Amino acid sequence: MSVQSAVRRLTAPDIRAKKGGEPIVSLTAYHAHTARLIDPHVDFMLVGDSLGMVMHGMETTVPVTVDMMILQGQAVMRGSARALVVVDLPFGSYEGSPQQAFATAARVLKESGAGAVKLEGGRRMAETVRFLADRGVPVMGHVGLTPQAINTLGSFKALGRDEASAALILDDARSIADAGAFSIVLEAISEPLARQITQEVAPPTIAIGGSPACDGQILVLEDMLGLSDRVPRFVKKFAEIGPAIGAAVEAYASEVRARSFPGPEHVYAPKKG
Ligand code: KIV
Repeated sequence: MSVQSAVRRLTAPDIRAKKGGEPIVSLTAYHAHTARLIDPHVDFMLVGDSLGMVMHGMETTVPVTVDMMILQGQAVMRGSARALVVVDLPFGSYEGSPQQAFATAARVLKESGAGAVKLEGGRRMAETVRFLADRGVPVMGHVGLTPQAINTLGSFKALGRDEASAALILDDARSIADAGAFSIVLEAISEPLARQITQEVAPPTIAIGGSPACDGQILVLEDMLGLSDRVPRFVKKFAEIGPAIGAAVEAYASEVRARSFPGPEHVYAPKKG
């Protein structure tokens, strides 16, 4: 008898089928323990290349490597059982050609066990999205503010707020939707534009600084937990875990210095006899 996992993970087609239905819930995850905590509540979790900034203190996502993404993707897969896991392809690992993108995506899927990849870019990436989708790689697109392009954008400010910029982003979203993306992240774009894209494209849209009219929402977990010092306007802090960690560590430090921790209940007695 073949042994199947009792819990079937959500797949890219499951996410695709949620277009226009109950909003899709997603968060970033980089570790096994946070993946375990969020798994019952989200439809997919993204191993985002934001891990370069959030976990490693980098200024941008540009230095993030494929090996870093695979390592954290493996951790998130081990910590979760239900949600689809999507892994970002980092800067420089896919833009050169569709063949380069396929080689990277295949390595990420094989070595992490994740169910899909995400890549940034609109019309310029459409040929690559089609190439991957035709070869068994589910691709989540990402248009609007694309942080990997920070060196050409110059800043992380919102886009699509004037007609010309909105038209370009609409064209980007249409291009990768037509190329076969199973869903599209819309980052930091004006509300009416996010709403219009959601109405016009077939795959579900996932907003991070978009519109409540999008098919789903995503936030960086550490931002919404209150662990990040500075957060963009689109972040709502659903908790303030940062000060709670500070208070716990302060209490630990003072108990260690006072020799009141560890107490008798935390130390091993010798074996009797
Ligand atoms: O890397 C990331 O965390 C992302 C989200 C902002 C969507 O791409």
